[in-house]
Amino acid sequence: DPDTATDAVRSVDDISTIAVLGAGNMGHGIAEVAALAGFEVFLRDIDDDLVRAGYDRIEWSLGKLAEKDRISDDEADAALDRVTPVVDLAAAVGDADVVVEVVPERMEVKKDVYAEVEAHAPDRALFVTNTSSLSITELGRETDRPERFCGMHFFNPPVRMRLVEVISGADSTEETLSTVEALAERLGKTPVRVHKDSPGFVVNRVLVPLLNEAAWAVHDGEATVAEVDSTTKYGLGLPMGSFELADQVGIDVALHVLEYMHDQLGDAYEPCPLLAEKVAAGDLGTKSGAGFYDYE
Ligand code: CAA
Repeated sequence: DPDTATDAVRSVDDISTIAVLGAGNMGHGIAEVAALAGFEVFLRDIDDDLVRAGYDRIEWSLGKLAEKDRISDDEADAALDRVTPVVDLAAAVGDADVVVEVVPERMEVKKDVYAEVEAHAPDRALFVTNTSSLSITELGRETDRPERFCGMHFFNPPVRMRLVEVISGADSTEETLSTVEALAERLGKTPVRVHKDSPGFVVNRVLVPLLNEAAWAVHDGEATVAEVDSTTKYGLGLPMGSFELADQVGIDVALHVLEYMHDQLGDAYEPCPLLAEKVAAGDLGTKSGAGFYDYE
């Protein structure tokens, strides 16, 4: 019983092994951050090709960081050595102190994964989700440990972005939240607690309407994609233009968050049709080779 496990993870000092479920855009980056901070990391996805792709992206990214003197070559090698790519979920979570779920944002997919985690993860482990849109309370109640479950939301690219949102579900205990905050700090990140489990949490609640308004401006013929991006970059001083950022976040991810906000919060969040058109065409952003810009 996870609630009474005598060796339960109660502080960051109890954490040495982290399982990251999902080796995609966010998962591989989270695994990389954990490995750089000295944790043993299991990187898991559903087939060899996906796990291998995630592992290769970590290798590429560590190489880039070393090339830019953000880390040494030795640190890059040591971090990569700490990452074990696996397909077998039981092997991935069997010795985990923390399980980080980064699988696709579909409730049924997450439910299946959670059932498997329960079957194979030690009772002592904390369980966190990197969801950017689904309810933490609802997800937590799909697990056998809602008290020791919360949101741990990273930003793309995890290795460069400092923020981690730590989101409380209705059942998350203070011990869980403060342990996850301490873990974020150990990863070199700045945690910010989100007290209320609401659509988009805080960052996406602010960011996604910006991306949507940019799309409406193009849709309404006010300016081109490049012109809107110039305004966000040179007028607001953001590091990327709105469309560059949408491409990096994933247009499908942005649309998914927006649809949820629209459903829960009302008409102000009506998604611009341009977003759905891109997604329907398979142009999801950098990860698919094209979005509002081409990357091939
Ligand atoms: N690992 C290592 N290097 C990487 C990398 C990664 N994952 N991703 C990009 N780089 C490299 C690039 O290849 C580039 O290298 P070259 O110069 O050799 O081509 C280099 O980093 C660029 O970095 P710089 O420091 O030179 O450039 P920068 O100062 O613009 O920093 C950035 C890059 C940190 C990504 C910056 O542009 C930035 O902060 N962008 C905004 C990102 C952002 O807002 N993310 C949040 C999105 S919201 C989200 O993710 C959550 C959600 O739920 C939707």
